[in-house]
Amino acid sequence: MTDISPDLASMDAPHGREPTNDLWEAMFSQRAIRYWKDKPVPRELLEKVVLAGSKAPSGSNMQPWVFVIIDEEEKRLAVSNALRDRVGESEMMQQLMAEGKKSDDKSVRLMMNGAEAFFNQLGKAPALIVPCLYNLASPTNDPTTLHAGSSIYLAVQNMLLAARGLGLGTVMTTAQDSVDDVLRAQLNLPDDAHPVALIPIGYPEAKFGKTKRKPLSEILRFNAW
Ligand SMILES: Cc1cc2nc3c(=O)[nH]c(=O)nc-3n(C[C@H](O)[C@H](O)[C@H](O)COP(=O)(O)O)c2cc1C
Repeated sequence: MTDISPDLASMDAPHGREPTNDLWEAMFSQRAIRYWKDKPVPRELLEKVVLAGSKAPSGSNMQPWVFVIIDEEEKRLAVSNALRDRVGESEMMQQLMAEGKKSDDKSVRLMMNGAEAFFNQLGKAPALIVPCLYNLASPTNDPTTLHAGSSIYLAVQNMLLAARGLGLGTVMTTAQDSVDDVLRAQLNLPDDAHPVALIPIGYPEAKFGKTKRKPLSEILRFNAW
């Protein structure tokens, strides 16, 4: 039998912008991209991303989702500008970012730089994906619960990986809540559709690459805590 598993310990995620069909390479180099080229993403690729999402498992295989993609400039700017004005430029966020960027903790500084980039760059993303819970019945019918999320966030992760595979950059965010009313108005969402994420997608103006994650020694236990 052929051993197809890579030597993970020695695996280094390639830094670059190239597409890949390799699952491990995609998983190891998929990272939050917050800078995009001014270049539209063909709908054929956006469809592939959603197709990958649609292969995810869900409670009782109910597939309680509809994915709305915004690639019309007027609509996506209505959403991204609302988010920038309401959250990015709010006094609280400005203060948080200013303080965070001076922090001694590098990870806090990076996070705050990331937050700032997100609000400033969002309008440049050529498309936004809005995954919506819809017809949710299993494992719960309450869209506000953790269990509801379990029936759609696997699809979201499939989409992030598929995008990485296609050479497209994404960043998972839960910023949709701050612009729920704008999304509902712009996208004509029915009352029983519930946006659960807001994911910009586009050709990256930053590189994919190695991510900083906790080592297995810290997070894995066999048989007992
Ligand atoms: C639930 C969730 C919410 C997030 N919300 C935001 C957000 O509002 N803005 C943002 O820029 N990134 C957001 N992120 C992206 C994370 O900051 C990012 O995935 C994490 O820092 C790891 O980054 P890396 O993959 O580049 O290492 C979110 C990620 C998750 C999973």
